[in-house]
Amino acid sequence: MIERNTPHGDAVTTCRPPAHGRLRWHGILLALAIGSFGMLAHAQDTAADKTAAVASANALATEAGFEVLARGGNAVDAAIAVGASLSVVQPEASGMGGGFLAVIHDAATGKDTFIDAREMAPQAVSEKDYLKADGTPNRDTSLNGPLAAGIPGFPAGIAYMAGKYGKLPLAVSLSPAIRLAEEGFHPSGALVRSIGHKADVLRRYPASSGKFMPGGKMPQETGIFRDPNQAKTLKALAEKGADGFYKGAVAKELVKSVRAAGGTWTLADLASYRAKERQPIELTYAGYKIVTAPPPSSGGVALAEMLNILAPIDLKSMDEAHRIHYLVEAMRRAFRDHNEYLGDPDFVKMPLDMLLSPYYADGLRQSILPDQATKSAWLPSVHAKDPGMHTTHYSIIDKDGNMVSMTATVNTTLGSSFVAGKTGILLNNEMDDFALVSGQPNAFGLIGGSANAPVGGKRMLSSMTPSIVVGKDRLAVIGSPGGSTIITQVFEGILAFIDGKNAGEITAQKRIHHQFLPDRVDIEKGSDIPADVLAKLKAMGYEINDKESWGNMNVVVWDKTTNTKTAASDPRNPNGLGKVETIH
Ligand code: GLY
Repeated sequence: MIERNTPHGDAVTTCRPPAHGRLRWHGILLALAIGSFGMLAHAQDTAADKTAAVASANALATEAGFEVLARGGNAVDAAIAVGASLSVVQPEASGMGGGFLAVIHDAATGKDTFIDAREMAPQAVSEKDYLKADGTPNRDTSLNGPLAAGIPGFPAGIAYMAGKYGKLPLAVSLSPAIRLAEEGFHPSGALVRSIGHKADVLRRYPASSGKFMPGGKMPQETGIFRDPNQAKTLKALAEKGADGFYKGAVAKELVKSVRAAGGTWTLADLASYRAKERQPIELTYAGYKIVTAPPPSSGGVALAEMLNILAPIDLKSMDEAHRIHYLVEAMRRAFRDHNEYLGDPDFVKMPLDMLLSPYYADGLRQSILPDQATKSAWLPSVHAKDPGMHTTHYSIIDKDGNMVSMTATVNTTLGSSFVAGKTGILLNNEMDDFALVSGQPNAFGLIGGSANAPVGGKRMLSSMTPSIVVGKDRLAVIGSPGGSTIITQVFEGILAFIDGKNAGEITAQKRIHHQFLPDRVDIEKGSDIPADVLAKLKAMGYEINDKESWGNMNVVVWDKTTNTKTAASDPRNPNGLGKVETIH
């Protein structure tokens, strides 16, 4: 355990404290529990207003969350309802054929926990399946069709959450999704565009074109889109829990269809999948406690590294060019480590005590030149290319103060574009998040070392960063999709929240991103950064890249001074809905 004081308050980072530090660690925990962390109990006490807040990327899913809350569910049941509904109405981003990572806060015990429902490699995974005959990477097999798909984690994850932390049976939490799949809904413009974008791949597989282009026609936003096969699979899950998906008729159909199209899945791969409960990463920055994702996500480690680098720096007293300079240099250093060290904690040993240590961050900070960009080429290097848009995030606080921050994915838009036979389940293309071919970048330009090499049963590294930020008077549940940009979006969102911004302002603020390589600063188009600030950054040696918008952030904020909750969905996404409602 490592701790230190900073001008902003304590900067404390935890994940498994080393044995020699435990005594001191317990002392610090006690002090913090009496001090700033006492707000968790306060959060519970002030929940008497009976309002709940839900923000997701689709209004139908947000309403599904409220429906389940009104039926006596808690934030966990609502998260299941939101996630299952998104599997139906926003399949381009997440679903039953994918995975998720979630931070849960239990108001009754004050405890935070983390659910890892990340996909895993099938046992027969082989690098040769992702190489062309000439030995170069085969981007088609790593992104499209059943070889691209990891064993899904989503159904096991929600079954686990419902059983341990929910109040309602899955049959109730899944009922809005089943109804949406059976009765149909108007597809969003984003879904229609995604189908158009992936039409060629969808047409390769009859079950995929049957689901997404019924009758051979492109769906229209004005039309009704139904998904009866997924409804049947959801019912099997509702009746039998995880076994309804990973064993029996659904499992047999998944394996049969995957293998018929050239994949390697076996019944044993499915039967062996387990959601895992892990200890979240916790750190404090500027007096706020941040609870976030541990490996197999790189998000929490990178977030901790960036915040630890910035902890003693008074960003507020800086001119804007220098503020951006320090943010970008923190991003650069965190992404370098992301590429180097991280993978599935059950398979690789990672130097987490080092990466999460403020003393390590001290060294990284020392290497930042006050008025000049560091070139990524001066640091040990990897190659990278542009990140993309995909994945989905939902944030929930229920009337009792339970919270769920959940990010779910099928990886790139519409995942592998492979629908598994009669199950109606669209499979992910998450295998591309492994370092499939050593030294080659994935779809987000990220390169992993051997720590993220594919092995049967191993989980691929993620950037998903579902987080909860708890201050003395205010707290936020935050996250976003966006591949490698997830990490910097959450980082900037947390800084904005700590600066006093509300949920709407946090989701609307313009974004910047740097991921070590390519060595450039992406600045969101329409940003209000003045020309003279950009000129200063260029003079410091930065390459500035004006970039189309990215991300789709969903945030809920609870201000305990006024006991009001606010919820906001990213204004970049016209389909989202953040809403606060009284639960009777
Ligand atoms: N598939 C994107 C991520 O997990 O980071």
